[in-house]
Parts: sequence; structure tokens; C-alpha cells
Amino acid sequence: MTPRLDQLAAPVEIGKFYLVPTVEAEWYGRVQPWPVIGPKHSDAHCLRFEEQHYHPDPRFIAARRRDDDYNFWRFVAAAPITTNKRINSAGLPRPVWRRRKCLRPANPWLQDIFELVQLNGNWQCHFAEWTGKQAKHDGRGWVCPHRAVPLADHAPVAGVITCPLHMLRIDADTGVVLPPLEGIAA
Ligand code: FES
Repeated sequence: MTPRLDQLAAPVEIGKFYLVPTVEAEWYGRVQPWPVIGPKHSDAHCLRFEEQHYHPDPRFIAARRRDDDYNFWRFVAAAPITTNKRINSAGLPRPVWRRRKCLRPANPWLQDIFELVQLNGNWQCHFAEWTGKQAKHDGRGWVCPHRAVPLADHAPVAGVITCPLHMLRIDADTGVVLPPLEGIAA
């Protein structure tokens, strides 16, 4: 049986199939069921992004050959699936579980993008608010304290799980939210 992402107690594995939440909507100029992570939300506080949106899940997005470059992955991290007057104006539907193959463990450019955004004042507000907070454990893994996103299916890198939504860094052993990077005030 194909496992559902929200039932995993270990990180996804490349090449394996999972049931993944998808939202059929326009994003990146295409209308199709896009894999998403976390709940629909807005980020008016700190990040000043008021539109309701979902975050696409880069682990299950099959980029076309010409997309597969730094700018595409930056788009994946920075441009969520939104509803506004121009696109998805009727609203965003609830996610539907669909079978998808895991193509990669995370956004391949997440660290580079992280280093870019942490210089932005809105993001510094976000990191300052959450640094030092304790994530809860849901019995499978840590849950990001920002939007209650379960992270059991996300692999740590060098002992740190980076939440793919707004890039909080969580100590994989203790669940404490770490500072964005050494030297950045939090
Ligand atoms: S949900 Fe926002 S950083 Fe995790």
C-alpha cells in the first residue's frame, strides 16, 4: 500500500511513491494538481504576505528540463500558490491525496535561498520571533511551531531540519529553533 506522507515516521526516500496532498490550481503558469506542504494560510505578520496560499512541495514536482535551474527552485521557495484577483480568484480548493514519486529530498537550492532571505528585514522579524522556541513532537517527529507543519518526513542536514515553508531551522535532536545563521541577530 502506498504510504501517506502524514503517516511517515522517517524522511521520504527518492524513487518511492507516496500519497501526497495536492491542490489543483494555477501556479508557475500552469493549472494542474500541485503537491503542497502544510495548511493554506497567509503570512501578514512579519512576512507581510497577506494572500491566502499553499506552499508547493519541491520533493514531488517534476520540473521540465528548461525549468530545472536555480531560478525555478528559487520560484518554488519564494512564490507560493496564491489566490488573488488575477489567478485562482475563485479560491484555492482543499488538498486531495494523490500518488506521487519522490524525486528529491528537498529544494536543491534551499540553503542559497535561505542565505538570501535572511538579509531581508521581514524575514529577520520572523526568525527573531521564533528563534529559541521549542517545537512539539507528534510521536513521529518534530512539528514546526510556526504553522504546525509536521516535519517527520523531512531529512535533517548536518543535524538541522529546515522547514521548507518559511525556513525555520530546527535542531533535529532537541527540537529547539536555531538562529538563522551565526552573526545574525535574533
Ligand atoms: S511553517 Fe513557517 S517556518 Fe515552518
